[in-house]
Amino acid sequence: MSKESRHPFLQGLSKHRGVQPTIITIFGASGDLCARKLVPAIYNLAVDNLLPADFYLIGYGRKPIPDEEFREVASDAISKFSRRSLNKEIWERIEKNTFYCSGGYDEAEAFQKLSDKIASIEKDAGREMQSVCYISTPPSVFEPIIKNLGEAGLATKYQSSDKHTKVVIEKPFGKDLESARNLNRVIQGVFQERQVYRIDHYLGKETVQDLLVQRFANSIFEPLWNRNYVDNVQITVGESLGVGTRGGYYEQSGATRDMIQNHTMQLLALTAMEAPASLDAESIRDEKVKLLKAIKPLRLGYSDSDVVRAQYGEGLIAGEKVPGYRQEEGVSPKSETETYAALRLTINNWRWQGVPFYLRSGKRMARRVTEIAIQFKRPPSSLFSENEMFNLANNALVFQIQPDEGSTILLNGKIPGLQTRTQPVKMHFRYSTTFGSNTPEAYERLVLDAMIGDGTLFIRGDETEASWNLITPLHDFWKSEGQRGIETYAAGSWGPNASDRMLWQNNHEWRRP
Ligand code: BG6
Repeated sequence: MSKESRHPFLQGLSKHRGVQPTIITIFGASGDLCARKLVPAIYNLAVDNLLPADFYLIGYGRKPIPDEEFREVASDAISKFSRRSLNKEIWERIEKNTFYCSGGYDEAEAFQKLSDKIASIEKDAGREMQSVCYISTPPSVFEPIIKNLGEAGLATKYQSSDKHTKVVIEKPFGKDLESARNLNRVIQGVFQERQVYRIDHYLGKETVQDLLVQRFANSIFEPLWNRNYVDNVQITVGESLGVGTRGGYYEQSGATRDMIQNHTMQLLALTAMEAPASLDAESIRDEKVKLLKAIKPLRLGYSDSDVVRAQYGEGLIAGEKVPGYRQEEGVSPKSETETYAALRLTINNWRWQGVPFYLRSGKRMARRVTEIAIQFKRPPSSLFSENEMFNLANNALVFQIQPDEGSTILLNGKIPGLQTRTQPVKMHFRYSTTFGSNTPEAYERLVLDAMIGDGTLFIRGDETEASWNLITPLHDFWKSEGQRGIETYAAGSWGPNASDRMLWQNNHEWRRP
């Protein structure tokens, strides 16, 4: 019997896609993301028997701490943030293979030390292993890290085999088109595109992956999925939280950079793209890029504009009074940063000609909810025309991405009774009722896929550029306008009136999810 087949981790692998022996290095190991998401994701993969026998974790950070201290930080993170409680036996298997390397991100010698550490792990294990370099740092150090990985020889290690180094990068990928292009140039100067895994954690969410299944594994939707039947599409990514302690970061970012350019545009691309030729990463990403490129430039200005921006003022969240954005810690009292943005998009292709796509995202909205609503046209017949007997709604198919994951079809039905009276009724599918509620977190899937080398749920360089190409003129316009045109909405509301007015111009209105 081989060494692998006896190992408890690998026994589970026969049932799953295999991860080869891996050394994962997390840059930014003392950061929030590492503790809240990455270490718990690794732990949960171990619980599910999805890690290989030879699995090693290296934390890399500026602060010099011994291995033992990083191990403690990691086990505390699991106890606090993992969806499953810490099982000592499983943790001990990861713990003994967990190390820490300290150094600056621009210090070439520190990267050489890291490379030596990786080589010594391989030597002790008696085998070559793939390296996964997970960059979870502020964007200001992306460039030195990437360059130093190249200098230390890690980017080209085992390059011609499937053991080649993979680099995983957290957002933001630039702050505009130019910086995104620069970042892509830096990355592509060191790594080949197939080695690069740009994270958008929304793609790791179960319900987002299910979008492709709902669209392409069912035959009933496709015939309706076009301008002949769809009246408009509304994508809402609302949060009830404010900026909390992240005011400093958010001031530089705002809702369009933080949520619209990435997460919301990804939801749009998956909803509106054509069927890919296959389920492989390149086919799916080709279709997303095609769709993003088909979006018409936004109309900017003050009458008939395709965009609305706003900031939350004071208001009530769950009955509690909360401060306005400009009163938050780290936020300028004269801030011009939007905490809400709504966009009206036109997709210039055969399928979607004339169908408005409305996107909105905001902090401190009435509820935390992400949904995609396909709103269908009214039936042609006037048999049930609107009067007091017939309360009719447009048919809609709504994907509830989170929370309360599932989908709903909105229909018109007869109210039981001797008269013919109608009202809108709903057909629900709920994940929790059908599948139970303990589904994997987005980061579990994404860390696993990066280790496997499957780029389907990651963003390709040209996708980020296509999305920035749409959003950057908007930022340039807002910058030139200063405070002008920033609306206010009460915390706990559904956004500013100007956003409702934008839809009324097309005889539409926002759903109240
Ligand atoms: C992040 C944003 O990318 O996504 C945050 O930076 C936001 O501002 C978060 O709160 C929302 O993610 P989720 O998974 O909680 O919807």
